[in-house]
Amino acid sequence: MALIEFEHVFKHYPGSPTAAVDDLNLHIEAGEFLTLLGPSGSGKTTTLMLLAGFEAPSAGTIRLDGASIESLPPHQRNMGVVFQSYSLFPHMTVAQNVAFPLSVRKVPPTTIAEKVTAALAKVHLENFTHRKPNQLSGGQQQRVALARALVFEPRLVLMDEPLSALDKKLREEMQLEIRRLHRELGVTMVFVTHDQSEAMTLSDRVAVFNQGRIEQLASPQQLYNAPANPFVANFLGDNNMLQCTLEGALPALQSAAAGAIRTSGGQTLQARICATKALAENAPVKLCVRPEFLQVATDAAALATPNRLHGTLLDLIHQGDHWRLVARLDAQARAATDEAPQWFAKIGPGALPAGLVVGQNVCLGFRPEDAWVF
Ligand SMILES: Nc1ncnc2c1ncn2[C@@H]1O[C@H](COP(=O)(O)OP(=O)(O)O)[C@@H](O)[C@H]1O
Ligand SMILES: [Mg+2]
Repeated sequence: MALIEFEHVFKHYPGSPTAAVDDLNLHIEAGEFLTLLGPSGSGKTTTLMLLAGFEAPSAGTIRLDGASIESLPPHQRNMGVVFQSYSLFPHMTVAQNVAFPLSVRKVPPTTIAEKVTAALAKVHLENFTHRKPNQLSGGQQQRVALARALVFEPRLVLMDEPLSALDKKLREEMQLEIRRLHRELGVTMVFVTHDQSEAMTLSDRVAVFNQGRIEQLASPQQLYNAPANPFVANFLGDNNMLQCTLEGALPALQSAAAGAIRTSGGQTLQARICATKALAENAPVKLCVRPEFLQVATDAAALATPNRLHGTLLDLIHQGDHWRLVARLDAQARAATDEAPQWFAKIGPGALPAGLVVGQNVCLGFRPEDAWVF
């Protein structure tokens, strides 16, 4: 049995035409690190608020260990919560802040002292007990907030964009810290972010949210290597897209299958086709290829891949560990009415063809197994 189960959960805020959470079905396993990832307004915070008990569902059921938690107020749900703004009590010291959840639970003072010391040691802040929040850096304040969420040994820790106020270096340090805590404590963590690299760093599983619904729920590797739809392909990692049509009808498929598609200019390409429902011949489809799977040559004959698209090199940018190429696809790939699609390629420093200059004709090649069609 899952630790948490959302069954057909809806949340309509009064006065809003659309549901903030729209028929959510989600199981959270004990001990896992689950991230809710999605653009702003996609319902991540609302989902967390429903779980924590700060909001009530408009319909549906949320269960903890198989029992509905509808009637449980937040403080009886045994969940630690960390928000984006550190929300520490400014007039209290670090130790008093961390002690707070224990004091309200009427834990005896000697036990409180022991638990606060242990919680601060876990986040490496044992020497800061007497400071006030305004005497700490952003990262330290966020670690105090984490210690406060962990101190009463909750079964579930909920975090809503806890690192978004920190600069990049500190954010990455804190990500490793949170990973370590999850590993060491074995506590179930539900984490909200709009940052795909943060989600990939931290999570066992990621639920990709869009307009109050989950587009796909899978491990970071699965999301990246086998996205279920163009939204997921575009939200996780870089992605190139091209509108094409299907060559020959297809039945509904359980898993992706090799097949042929045609560009607007009539060029045939081979790719992996995902068809969750039957598709007619010439059905419009979207081709997706990640930039790192593109090979670039000035001469098509230099490419071993069966799929080759021609275009013009618009820009060539050195990004340290790789080159980023921007190319405009030519008429074979796009309809005359299309806005010229720009494709990006990521090329290792050693793999850049010699003599490549902006304005030149280039050929972009990719293997059928690296191209997804939806
Ligand atoms: N208290 C509220 N009252 C009315 N609408 C809200 C409220 N909170 C969120 N919403 C709306 O619900 C949708 C989901 O918001 P939210 O859960 O905060 O998304 P996210 O955390 O993914 O950015 C948005 O359209 C937002 O405007
Ligand atoms: Mg939010």
